Amino acid sequence: MTEPHHEPVPSPAQQQALAQAIARHAQRPGALLPLLHDVQAALGHVPPALVPGIAQAVNRSRAEVHGVISYYHHFRSTPAGRHVVQVCRAEACQANGSEALAQAAEALLGCAMHGTRADGAVTLEPVYCLGLCATGPAVQIDDRLHARMTPERLAQRLQALGVAVTAGEGA
Ligand code: FES
Repeated sequence: MTEPHHEPVPSPAQQQALAQAIARHAQRPGALLPLLHDVQAALGHVPPALVPGIAQAVNRSRAEVHGVISYYHHFRSTPAGRHVVQVCRAEACQANGSEALAQAAEALLGCAMHGTRADGAVTLEPVYCLGLCATGPAVQIDDRLHARMTPERLAQRLQALGVAVTAGEGA
């Protein structure tokens, strides 16, 4: 006999966040995105356990809801680290070396893009334009924007936040 498929069960806090988001948005057309935004604002991520309830509330399939969550880089399915580092990878920053900076960030943090380090200190993400296109490469660390970022400055900023970094190449 095969084991029944175990679905994750939402915690009471997760259920409450969803109920509040549904109360605010579910009756409106186009409710899915605002609902996801509210859930993430309340919980820091959109837990997979809430996907069935979200799908039901907006009359969409679970696959559609999963698709939207993975399409928009803004949404997370797992909790972020204590700090979030976002490296701009849009065109203007690419022309100013953001690819090399992104690789340097991965090496400094010991963490791949879209990943959270095992110690939970930091999540590293790409972002597509931070509005600092003329002064790239741009990085956002938590709520703060930084222009003309270099691997050296990134390492300094992270260390100032108490995030341990690996010495970069050539350091
Ligand atoms: S392209 Fe990077 S800030 Fe706009």
